Amino acid sequence: MTDSGWILYKRLLGYVKPHWRAFALAIVGFVIYAASSTALAEMMKRLIDGIQNPDAAFRFFLPLFVVIMFAARGLGTFLSTYFMAYVGRYVIHTLRCEVFAHLLHLPGRFFDNHSSGQLVSRVTYHVEQVAGAATNAVTVILREGLFVIGLISYLLWTNWMLTLLFLGVTPIIGVVVNYVSKRFRRISKRIQHSMGDVTHVASEALSGYRVVRTHGAEAYEQQRFERVSEENRRQSMKEAMTRAVSSPVILMLVAISMAFLVWLAMAPALMDNMTPGEFVAFITAAALMIKPVRQLTEINGDIQKGIAAASELFGLLDLTPEQDEGKRIPEKLIGEVVIDNVSFRYADDQPYVLHDISLTVAPGELVAIVGRSGSGKSTLVSLLPRFYRPSKGRILIDDINADDFALGPLRQHIGLVSQQVTLFNATIADNIAYGIANPDRAAIEAAAEAAYASEFIDKLPQGYDTVVGENGVMLSGGQRQRLAIARAIFKNAPILVLDEATSALDTESERYIQKALEYVCKGRTTLVIAHRLSTIERADRILVMEQGRIIEQGTHQALLEAGGAYAALHQLQFQESE
Ligand SMILES: Nc1ncnc2c1ncn2[C@@H]1O[C@H](COP(=O)(O)OP(=O)(O)O)[C@@H](O)[C@H]1O
Ligand SMILES: [Mg+2]
Repeated sequence: MTDSGWILYKRLLGYVKPHWRAFALAIVGFVIYAASSTALAEMMKRLIDGIQNPDAAFRFFLPLFVVIMFAARGLGTFLSTYFMAYVGRYVIHTLRCEVFAHLLHLPGRFFDNHSSGQLVSRVTYHVEQVAGAATNAVTVILREGLFVIGLISYLLWTNWMLTLLFLGVTPIIGVVVNYVSKRFRRISKRIQHSMGDVTHVASEALSGYRVVRTHGAEAYEQQRFERVSEENRRQSMKEAMTRAVSSPVILMLVAISMAFLVWLAMAPALMDNMTPGEFVAFITAAALMIKPVRQLTEINGDIQKGIAAASELFGLLDLTPEQDEGKRIPEKLIGEVVIDNVSFRYADDQPYVLHDISLTVAPGELVAIVGRSGSGKSTLVSLLPRFYRPSKGRILIDDINADDFALGPLRQHIGLVSQQVTLFNATIADNIAYGIANPDRAAIEAAAEAAYASEFIDKLPQGYDTVVGENGVMLSGGQRQRLAIARAIFKNAPILVLDEATSALDTESERYIQKALEYVCKGRTTLVIAHRLSTIERADRILVMEQGRIIEQGTHQALLEAGGAYAALHQLQFQESE
């Protein structure tokens, strides 16, 4: 096994540690199994030797021996099977929960680069592969491995010289196994990746089924799916081929050395020194070796799969979570936000999307941000809850560097309605009070009222207990948006960010929302990104962004009079509504 394989195995063993008692019991089971199986060879010896000169004790002893041996073997099988499964399943459970918990804390950048299908496949498929290595494979290795060791010891004890000759082929077997292992691991990586692709393509096409159908893209998606599934099949067949070839090759090597052994053992000089019983026992023990050797070579594939999957999972666990070294816990923020010379790019190899932004928002101020799509509005506000960090400059909240706050408590103080509304497949009440155990019903209803959502919720047959379907499919766009706003209101945070929260609303509900906003904004610092300018005319200040810069700011009136970019935008929208 290679170095990295060892390191991985050691790390996996770390997960076994808490369950060492069960593991020890399993080992006891393996030892009992191996010992009783080895005894089979000894039994052959007694049988043959006994047949030559039978006596009464022998007649009684041999059947008893058979029963005891199988009883012991049964006990060994039970202990090892049950307790290995016990340990293995715990390892899987722990690993799976750890991977999931880690995913919950990875930075936004990570999710920009990975499809959810690939990630889902890690917590399901990959973890199951590790289960294969951790339970079945370890079981076989320990059980059959100990059996092989038992047999070899017995052989050495019976006739060490012959045994050493017999073992002469082991280095060759080792080379074969080593080569095959590496190949297995390489292929397994590809299989696991292709399984992620399968999940990814399927979930994309299934959740976007409407787009697929309106574009008549069924055939296209089917082809795409067939391609990834075919790749999975091809890689799996390579694995099957390796498996199918390697096992007979190794067995052939064992058989050749067996033949050599028999030939040697029949040499008159050697025959003279052994009783027929000893001779038969020796051959039996050597022959018994074939089954465990076969199983060991076959299980090798599973082990390599598990190692490949484990390396993938450990790689994921080793990714640094969101930086959260800030220690300050905001007690009560008044909500002053200072953006100080902030520039930002999504990655080092990408262009800056924000350039030297400086902005001070007073507590309780309502600031609107407008500008073309792609001008960096969403990016700017995503820096507040620290989904990303400024590449240059800093952000202060209540005069404290946002980085100095602990992440969780900081986010507790920011209400956010993002451009893409996310609803969970739960009741309306649970969606509004998301993340809160036993929420206050009256507060939920008040929030819905303020977001003008109660008007449609009351009309639903089950009211607040209506389940909204995956991502709220049972609701209209405007309804979903109002729920998202209600959720932000319910959170009652001193800083509120609305990213195009009213873009999906019709003119009438938009007017409602406008009123709601006026109510909601009282006593909080609010940043509103708006597409339709009519919604933000009453903002204390309006910023106009273009290509990552703030190019204008002022009140609605002042900006109109200035006759710049805002005035032009306004003119455009005014004409449209005419
Ligand atoms: N996750 C991301 N990774 C890389 N680039 C991004 C990402 N999100 C947005 N961008 C880029 O950043 C720029 C600003 O986008 P955004 O802030 O969403 O604009 P707006 O909200 O004003 O429409 C765009 O050029 C966009 O392509
Ligand atoms: Mg945006």
